[in-house]
Amino acid sequence: MNKKPRKHFFRMMARTAYLFFIKPADCSGLVKKSYDRISDNYDETWTGHMRDLTESLINKLNPKQDDICIDLTCGTGFASNLIAEKTQNTVVGVDSSEGMLTQARKNYDHNCNFIQADILEYLKKQDSSSVDIIACCWGLGYSKPFTVLRQIKRVLKPGGKVAIIDNSLFSLREIIYCSFLTFAEHPGKLRNLMRFKFLPNSWILRVMFRMLNLKTSYSANGNKSYTVDSGKAAINRLRATGAAAGFEYASDEEDEEQIFKRFAEIIEEKHMAHNGITVTHRYLAGIAQK
Ligand SMILES: C[S@@+](CC[C@H](N)C(=O)[O-])C[C@H]1O[C@@H](n2cnc3c(N)ncnc32)[C@H](O)[C@@H]1O
Repeated sequence: MNKKPRKHFFRMMARTAYLFFIKPADCSGLVKKSYDRISDNYDETWTGHMRDLTESLINKLNPKQDDICIDLTCGTGFASNLIAEKTQNTVVGVDSSEGMLTQARKNYDHNCNFIQADILEYLKKQDSSSVDIIACCWGLGYSKPFTVLRQIKRVLKPGGKVAIIDNSLFSLREIIYCSFLTFAEHPGKLRNLMRFKFLPNSWILRVMFRMLNLKTSYSANGNKSYTVDSGKAAINRLRATGAAAGFEYASDEEDEEQIFKRFAEIIEEKHMAHNGITVTHRYLAGIAQK
């Protein structure tokens, strides 16, 4: 019988702490690289799966015809276009990934203006009290949530609204655990740890709104799942849906194949059910008014 590979939990925890506190990865550079890589198929794998959640948030936001609107972390422009369809002004979409913006321009250039920038840098350059609506769908946790929200509050006109939807901190907890178990067999192969800042839940988002004197009008937590038929299919789908999901660049390129193969075996061991492996994204959402 094959012996199970040994797991080095203490070494793994020490390695995680070292990478987290002492040698953090160039998170924004890697996120940009990752979204550039997946941009061609992003709409198929992510927008297609999550579109109803984004749509429902933008419907609740309900922009008016003459509102000035910005969509932060616009990606391929799905939410920007939803907003643009409800207003007569051109919506500004902001994203750091040129690959994602290329897709956005292909899709929605007729009613949106897409700009390549870091969202925080972009917000800092906007006049105070100049915008009616600011949305940020599935991207807040890649930046500094509270600092971004503080800038949003400054840029919004009195009565203006902000809408947020994002993965929560423990969105893919089963996947994170399986990744931990995979790397625990070879802690030295864990090279980069992304320091994302996803919020734990919508309560924290509400607290942030309140601290900034923004009035919450909507708040929710939820989850959405998909099922795949093998561990290999799980890793392929995760890698196609974005940086956080795919643990892109966690190992060196030459180790990737071995790590992904072992991850696929572990997730099958832990989560294979009669209908396949279920992958669940947990999310939080909120709308607030200045
Ligand atoms: C999960 S995608 C969301 C895209 C789109 N909003 C949607 O709903 O499909 C996250 C996006 O955030 C962008 N992003 C991450 N960090 C960013 C930052 N600091 N500034 C600008 N864009 C950023 C990525 O390039 C990516 O396009």
